[in-house]
Amino acid sequence: MDYKARSAYKDSKIVNEYDSKRFYSIRGKVINFLEKSAIEKAIKYIALPAASEILDLPCGTGRISIFLAEKGYKVMGGDISPEMIDKVRENARRIGMNGQTEFQVLDAEKIDCANSHFDAVVSLRFFGHTPPEVRKRVLMEFKRVGKKYFIFSYYLKNSLQEILRRKKRLAAGIPWYPVSFKDIDQEMKQVGIKKIKIFPVLKYFSETVVVLGEASYSNGNK
Ligand SMILES: C[S@@+](CC[C@H](N)C(=O)[O-])C[C@H]1O[C@@H](n2cnc3c(N)ncnc32)[C@H](O)[C@@H]1O
Repeated sequence: MDYKARSAYKDSKIVNEYDSKRFYSIRGKVINFLEKSAIEKAIKYIALPAASEILDLPCGTGRISIFLAEKGYKVMGGDISPEMIDKVRENARRIGMNGQTEFQVLDAEKIDCANSHFDAVVSLRFFGHTPPEVRKRVLMEFKRVGKKYFIFSYYLKNSLQEILRRKKRLAAGIPWYPVSFKDIDQEMKQVGIKKIKIFPVLKYFSETVVVLGEASYSNGNK
């Protein structure tokens, strides 16, 4: 099934403006900081060893891949957009991050990587763009390539921020797929990922929650 974000980020204007439009304003910087803080809390919660291999998919322009590489993790960033991959390679090169990071065009619905390859799989700002049936395929792929831990951002239906953004998204023609806490539990359970803990990006306001999960082996996948 097709969905807008699958092809939208191949447009060079969108790619070139991706960081400046989202993360350069004070508001953007704060949100970026809060999202990274939630990821950091999740990593600390499981005490993810420093040498762990992490898949960041989709990596976009690389803010999360680079953040994780700076912490000493070995990071593979993937994105379906070759233009995004060119941009993230350029960004990593500019700050001298080539050694700990690798970037490659990857489709999250059919990841070209071996089973159980990564210690952790991280996916930010993706599940709001993906319809439930796509998310299920993606989650199954994450579960297949991931050994143990999963860190995803989900977007909460009827949160204050989602309600405030709803009209704007509709007017801009941005399809959006928010979920309830129950949906998160069900989706993760269906693919054999056990929810460990939820880290809200900004409690009582933000639509974004960072969800930490662990592979459960009961579905016979491993
Ligand atoms: C909103 S950006 C998020 C990027 C990054 N995770 C971040 O938080 O800044 C969404 C990205 O998803 C990518 N994308 C969409 N469908 C994809 C798929 N099936 N597999 C891999 N990447 C995909 C787009 O190319 C785009 O770069």
